[in-house]
Amino acid sequence: MVNRITELLRKMSIAEKIAQLSQLSADYFQEDGVTLTGPTGKQQVTSEELHSVGSVLGISGAERARKIQKNYLQHSRLKIPLLFMADVVHGYKTIFPIPLGLASSFDSELVEETAKIAAKESASAGLHAIFAPMVDLVRDPRWGRVMESNGEDPFLNGSLATASIKGFQGCVTDRFDENHVAACVKHFAAYGAAEGGREYNTVDMSEWQFRDQYLEGYQRAIETGARLVMTSFNTLFGVPATANEHLMRTILRKELKFDGILISDWNAIGELKEHGVASSQTDAAVKALKAGVDMDMMSFAYFELAQKLEKEGQVPQEIIKLLDESVYRVLKLKEELGLFEDPFRGMDLLKEEENVLTEDNLKIAQKAAEESTVLLENKDNLLPLKPDTKITLCGPLVRERDLLGSWSWKGNTTKNETIADALQNKFKGVTVFDEDLAEGTLDLNVLKQKTADSEVVIVALGLKSYQSGEATSMTKPRLPKKQLNFLKALNETGKKIVTIIITGRPLVLTEVSKFSDALLLPWFPGSRGAEAIANIITGEVNPSGKLPMSFPRDIGQIPLYYNSLRTGRPLTGSDNLDKENKYLSKYIDEENSHLYCFGYGLSYADFKVKKVQLVDKQIAKNGELNLKVEVANESHIDGQTVIQCYTHQCVAETAQPDRELKMFKKIMLKANEAKVIDICIPVTRLAYTHQDLTKKVDCGNYVLYVGFAADTKRKISFEII
Ligand code: GLC
Repeated sequence: MVNRITELLRKMSIAEKIAQLSQLSADYFQEDGVTLTGPTGKQQVTSEELHSVGSVLGISGAERARKIQKNYLQHSRLKIPLLFMADVVHGYKTIFPIPLGLASSFDSELVEETAKIAAKESASAGLHAIFAPMVDLVRDPRWGRVMESNGEDPFLNGSLATASIKGFQGCVTDRFDENHVAACVKHFAAYGAAEGGREYNTVDMSEWQFRDQYLEGYQRAIETGARLVMTSFNTLFGVPATANEHLMRTILRKELKFDGILISDWNAIGELKEHGVASSQTDAAVKALKAGVDMDMMSFAYFELAQKLEKEGQVPQEIIKLLDESVYRVLKLKEELGLFEDPFRGMDLLKEEENVLTEDNLKIAQKAAEESTVLLENKDNLLPLKPDTKITLCGPLVRERDLLGSWSWKGNTTKNETIADALQNKFKGVTVFDEDLAEGTLDLNVLKQKTADSEVVIVALGLKSYQSGEATSMTKPRLPKKQLNFLKALNETGKKIVTIIITGRPLVLTEVSKFSDALLLPWFPGSRGAEAIANIITGEVNPSGKLPMSFPRDIGQIPLYYNSLRTGRPLTGSDNLDKENKYLSKYIDEENSHLYCFGYGLSYADFKVKKVQLVDKQIAKNGELNLKVEVANESHIDGQTVIQCYTHQCVAETAQPDRELKMFKKIMLKANEAKVIDICIPVTRLAYTHQDLTKKVDCGNYVLYVGFAADTKRKISFEII
């Protein structure tokens, strides 16, 4: 492997080396069917540049990719194959729930399975690498890309990052197998903490908080072997990530020992000028190279540096060394993907037809949607509904085909069932009333007349796909006023109301929860989302989703997350005391608490933690907490639930949250079944970031909380000795 790469490095000109480090969008290689995911100034490139560029983003399809690769190699001097990359974030053609939805499953194995399918479909369509998983920790629903994240908790984020890399890449010996692709973990780093939740805005946090809370997702993805990392648009510690040598050289390369490809985000190198840290494209290019950015996505800065160096007729030794390092990494990945032996890897039409959008894949998409849906309210156990229930079905999303959400690139929205289709397949007596929310439909008499024959009203509300994802920050993460007024009017009919909320972000549902007898959150549930929703409403599937993010009562509480620090004046938990005492960390116009907390989600079953035993209550630093948790399903319905284990360190060197998730386990219990579940938590999970920024475990007293949500009261003390 080294001989071929060393040989190529020896042969390559400076211009060819720099071209190998440049990535162009699909429209430079084809005209039709192009999805651009960033601003393009349609800058021209020469034919030499085009046919020595290292990679292309946003092209797929076995035939199309084969044609482009063939043409490219015909013009390429050194016949170095083109690398095909694209955003396959929650599925290629079989679209799974958005990652924030998948995170609600609290099921690492399921996430790995969906990633494996996404990889096989992508590889069968000629892709070599995908820009996923996104593991930015997010505590602000105003930020539209929260939909791509695993939510607010470092451990859940890290666990699902690991699962995603395993699924995307498989087990790579010296070669990727034909059903897997290289994964690009993004966006390094802390992009999800943009001030005000405003897209591309400044991120400014202490390095202590970054290391303690935000680093875990990236770290665990890299430990699992992620081959690429993408730089983020934002500043961190005062320097844009794409030029941040401390972040990239010290933390990423040295501490995390990442030796894969660091690719910029779209035009992020060029944007160093707008950030005010580069005077020109070539200055930006040099700063990015020094920070260790191996690939320039769509800024053309590296190309302009090549032109400048050519004009000057000499190349500083330092630049040559940086270029060789980066080109080596790019060629090494191409070698690992077997592209030198077979540049047409995965570009086989028959294989594509055999592996993409299969019924088996769609079945997993449906299972994922069922497990990702969170039941938030079910007053008087209204759900599940019997098949002979008379239903009025209404709301702006009841006939919506696009339940895929953002970043569902090749997902097809024409063939998916709508919520109306799926429910009409399940219930005999369904009348659909889906006029848009023109003022007239809010007239109570009209609504009473429309719902007169029904026992239950099911209303599908929420946001559209275009209101989610990149460049969709919202100052008011809540339902549109018209929808809330419609729900309020429906509630006045006196009928039982089942509200379905389609969304890519947590919304303020305080009013919605009051007007709903049952409240279901499928997020954007993907290709088989409607069928999943119907199966939950009929009870064929017992909902088991748990919230990966806290839901606020009011926008003013944002950012709201369960593991925030206690402060010196925390609430005492006694209503009277907390009301009387003015000088506490609280608001005068709203409660502190969430509307729905992290880890919360209802079931049709009735789960109880009957007993929690710690095998040892004094554990060595290199040991593990061994728990025996007796759980019972005191209902007549089988179901799944998630046992969650949180710990609190009573006294530490830095301020500590009231509790933090250290382990979770999804279990199935049959009707009236009780089980003792063994859970093991390595003591290393208790490590936190000390003042010297190292992460380690302290001896001392701790409290363990065990339950089905972050606000569980059941606790046991233990000691690390
Ligand atoms: C976008 C996104 C990034 C994506 C890239 C390529 O701007 O920030 O997540 O992978 O461009 O489409």
